[in-house]
Amino acid sequence: MTAPIHPSPAAHRGTGDDCTLVLIGALGDLARRKLYPALYRLAKDGLLAPRFTLVGVERAPQDDASFVKAIREALDNASDTGGPVEPAAFERLTRGARYVRGDLTDAALYGALCTTLDTVESATPLGDRNRLFYMAIPPSLFLRVVEGLSECGAAPRTHTAEEAQQGPWTRLIIEKPFGRDLASARALNTALLTRFSEPQLYRIDHYLGKETVQNILAFRFANAIFEPLWNRGTIAHVQITVAETVGVEGRGGYYEEAGVIRDMFQNHLMQLLATTAMEAPGTMSAAAVRDEKVKLLRAVRHLHDGAIAENLALGQYAAGAIDGEPVPAYAAEPSVKPDTRTPTYAALRVFVDNWRWEGVPFYLRSGKRLGARVSEVVVRFRRAPAVLWPSTARDSMRPNELVLRIQPDEGITLGFQAKRPGAALALTPEMELAPVRMRFSYEEDFGGQPVPAYETLLLDAMIGDATLFARSDEVEQAWTIVDPLVAAADAGPRPELYPAGSSGPHGAAALLERDGFAWHPLTLAAAGR
Ligand code: BG6
Repeated sequence: MTAPIHPSPAAHRGTGDDCTLVLIGALGDLARRKLYPALYRLAKDGLLAPRFTLVGVERAPQDDASFVKAIREALDNASDTGGPVEPAAFERLTRGARYVRGDLTDAALYGALCTTLDTVESATPLGDRNRLFYMAIPPSLFLRVVEGLSECGAAPRTHTAEEAQQGPWTRLIIEKPFGRDLASARALNTALLTRFSEPQLYRIDHYLGKETVQNILAFRFANAIFEPLWNRGTIAHVQITVAETVGVEGRGGYYEEAGVIRDMFQNHLMQLLATTAMEAPGTMSAAAVRDEKVKLLRAVRHLHDGAIAENLALGQYAAGAIDGEPVPAYAAEPSVKPDTRTPTYAALRVFVDNWRWEGVPFYLRSGKRLGARVSEVVVRFRRAPAVLWPSTARDSMRPNELVLRIQPDEGITLGFQAKRPGAALALTPEMELAPVRMRFSYEEDFGGQPVPAYETLLLDAMIGDATLFARSDEVEQAWTIVDPLVAAADAGPRPELYPAGSSGPHGAAALLERDGFAWHPLTLAAAGR
């Protein structure tokens, strides 16, 4: 049975604003798997405003009734609705829902959309005619859609941040990938910013919507005891891992173009790095938080050509087994070239050149078809300076370690040394030490599963809080860091193969061994979590 989901943490913030949500790509994979379940849960938690209305835009021949039926099917097949679909919440979600059929490259579609929006909003007071456009479509169509929406007048530009907050407002949620390199991300930002103002733009990175990622900031800045330790004086290194057991899940065509660096590092890993390492913002406003993240990303040492080989290890999964089931090699996945050189795994060492972090390596890794699904930030502290008990060899004394577990088994553990019990081992030179853990678990302390990221992010966009969305300069700075890595991967040989179900390529282990460190074990059991 699926564990219940916590009531939305946003409940105390009240509902989203009245708005029409125009979902472009309304029958696509993202909409079905993530967006309808998230909207449904908002409806169930009473967080959709009274005048919330859904308008789906898609090419498929559907009408309003069959669109609503498709939403119902999506919800029935979803695992994260928190139980069987409740009729009242479903009715709230789909009340007045409309479907607009058409080709996104055809100007006629935008005319039809405008007419539908006018009809939907006809009984709504002018100040509440808010429009939230969600671009759940391939990036190749972003610009065409932006042009279409802006030229037909469906999505007017606002000029100031205040106007972007007050009704009637227009906001755009843009899905990743945001560009495929720095140049294309800049071009996309420029095109968007000629038609919209920055406060109207909500660039999604769903990792920022995860409870546990937001909790990194709570952990660091709502407690007084950890922050004084959060620097080069006490921290030896930091590891950031996003390990997946899934393969490319039928997205071979997309993945051949993206590879792990574009797919995971440019966005999720860079956001985790920035959140873990940034300075405390003056306030929790979107501007202050994003300013600090950009500052941090700017301090990441640029890897020039000569330095890349010693800081980057790539891999590609070969055939193997996941949970005892055989799985094919990446090269044998549909839409993947048999001689593909696309990396499905990368491990990267970066340094942050600022006062706080000088000399502390940050090791980032992410890969598909690994032995366990684990996302975590591991902060490894320096060793105690002396060992007073000779029965414990210095090397066997584990340094203190803080693990911020993003998923699954969400929580935090702190590892330290304790005296092994026993009278024979009293406070003498023979006393033995053993590593132990203090453990916080979301499930045990709060009950249920964390709120899924899209629920938080959709509500934030309806409220007008952009803190958990990426700003243009943040995205561009992340591309500045990863562009040389992508170029090196493209120019390099075929990445080292690793068997599906393993912990990744040898090159990744070597990256840490050279510095005298080792990766935190990937399997939950091995790590004794
Ligand atoms: C997406 C990537 O952004 O994140 C996928 O495109 C990846 O390839 C996914 O599987 C991972 O997200 P999560 O929330 O399942 O860790």
